[in-house]
Amino acid sequence: MPKFIPEEKIAEIRDAADIVDFISDTVILKKTGRNFIGLCPFHAEKTPSFTVSPEKQIFHCFGCGEGGNVFTFLMKSEGLAFPEALKKVAARCGIQMPARTIGGDRGKNSGERERLLAVNRLALDFFRQNLAHADRSRRARAYLLRRGIDAEAMDRFGVGYAPPGWENLANYLVRRKVAARWGAMCGLLVARKERDGYYDRFRDRIMLPIFDLSGQVVAFGGRVMDDSVPKYLNSPETPVFSKGRTLFNLHRARSKCRQADSVLIVEGYFDLISLVQKGIENVVATLGTALTGDHVQRLKGCTRNMVLVFDGDAAGLQAARRSYAVFANRGVNAKVVVLPAGHDPDSYVRQFGRDGFLRKVETAEGIVTFLIDAAIRRHGDSIAGRVRAVDELMPVLAAIDDRVARSLYLRELAERVGVPEADILQRLRRTPAGKVVGKGGVAGATADGRPAAGWVGSLRIERQIVAMMLHFPEIIPEIRRRGLLDRFQSETLQQAGRLVMESDAPLAARIGELSPDRADEGVLKVLTSLAVADEKWDHNACLRLMDQFDASCRRQQDDLLKQIAAAEERGDQELLFKLLKDRQTQAGGGTT
Ligand code: UTP
Ligand code: MN
Repeated sequence: MPKFIPEEKIAEIRDAADIVDFISDTVILKKTGRNFIGLCPFHAEKTPSFTVSPEKQIFHCFGCGEGGNVFTFLMKSEGLAFPEALKKVAARCGIQMPARTIGGDRGKNSGERERLLAVNRLALDFFRQNLAHADRSRRARAYLLRRGIDAEAMDRFGVGYAPPGWENLANYLVRRKVAARWGAMCGLLVARKERDGYYDRFRDRIMLPIFDLSGQVVAFGGRVMDDSVPKYLNSPETPVFSKGRTLFNLHRARSKCRQADSVLIVEGYFDLISLVQKGIENVVATLGTALTGDHVQRLKGCTRNMVLVFDGDAAGLQAARRSYAVFANRGVNAKVVVLPAGHDPDSYVRQFGRDGFLRKVETAEGIVTFLIDAAIRRHGDSIAGRVRAVDELMPVLAAIDDRVARSLYLRELAERVGVPEADILQRLRRTPAGKVVGKGGVAGATADGRPAAGWVGSLRIERQIVAMMLHFPEIIPEIRRRGLLDRFQSETLQQAGRLVMESDAPLAARIGELSPDRADEGVLKVLTSLAVADEKWDHNACLRLMDQFDASCRRQQDDLLKQIAAAEERGDQELLFKLLKDRQTQAGGGTT
């Protein structure tokens, strides 16, 4: 199978296929007007809500929200990867697949990539040599041993040491005939501002290499050995390294995760090393950022059972609340375990041993159940508290596409708060299913995890704006002029809007041309669901909607200002900081 398939080939295959033909293999379709409908193959239903549009060459289920083009359909229904789906369609349409096609442009990029990887590899050697050097590394070794990292683990993880001083690595690279700008491109060297030349980014730090899936060094994390800050310094994003797509230890953990059919996700490098030393090897760690959809997608290749292990502090709880959105609708079984206060996985496994730690992991709760528990604990048992808990959970429930799962959680919530299911359901109906993926949180949750007043409304408006752009493309220049997308709260809808804006021809009729390997799954789903409906828009309706959006932004800004004032009064610095950051985003242009 070729690694890289040119866009023209994909288009050729797509244009040759009829989606109705492929879907009819497994679904009985009935013609109704311009579309076909049938019983959805992706969820259990008795009345058909699965719709196929031959004109647009897309499918969409109004029941469960699945949707996409012919490739998406085969990927979902047969569990194929994109190139396999492509191959299958090509074969049926009698189209020859290219044996091997790597364009010239890509050749150039792959040259750069090789080079950056080679420089990182040199740096790894350098750091390791320094740790091996008895004199130079005395303090570093003492630190590692004090933290219980044995020589075997040092070796296995490629632990190294960046000596103090400003030009050690810089000089080393010069001696190896590597131009300093390559070191800078890797983020290992930093260009001096005041004069020519470069200096070492990492100085007097324990160095942990970060590997990609094929075991190449793409970045480093460096820890200080005392209380200075920052505690960890990571390589910046480079052409070979993106935090949102990389997980520490994934390349080694993959086979272990498959064997165990589960993966533990921890937050700290040292937590991970500590667990591995105790023989728990199906572990990965994030790199100081929230878990992303891309991370989850990568892990899904090994197992669908994911357990988030959080430190027993407030930050952990908050992170759990934020991670929810990246699991919703990705078909994974996500669980959460929060360690007792004051513990992290490292301290816990040292105190209670491998078995103690695994027993703790056994108690992990499903993430929705966990969020329900946490909301109830936080808001208390009073009537007002229960109402707040229900409110907090509405966005979570609304984001679940699977009707069966949603009604089970609904029942669970009703039982836990002692409110009739019908009442919660009524509230839920007023909450649109804003499917949110990406960077972090449930859209519209404020820094402390409470849904911001009005978030539900603004999600609905954002969705309508994207629909309007699709069905009334004449309005796009006005959207651009007002910078509307920059103020979106839902990252998915924002990305969807950008796709519509950047497409050179009106996109509504051509959603089916967006290949599942080119755009985020959530974004495609939203676009398909909006495109399948034939909406009529006129200029006045557009203006009204845009004004509504402006008003809702202003309302939220007022809310935020109130929260900032309150946080200031309480002296809650952490919250204040986050709110101020939110404010920057709201002011526009903050989310790109
Ligand atoms: P922790 O401070 O919990 O990390 O931060 P840890 O690994 O448990 O640290 P020690 O060594 O035991 O004290 C969790 C993760 O957050 C990122 C790192 O990836 C770290 O492993 N982080 C933390 C940073 O990127 N920068 C920082 O300054 C701190
Ligand atoms: Mn720690």
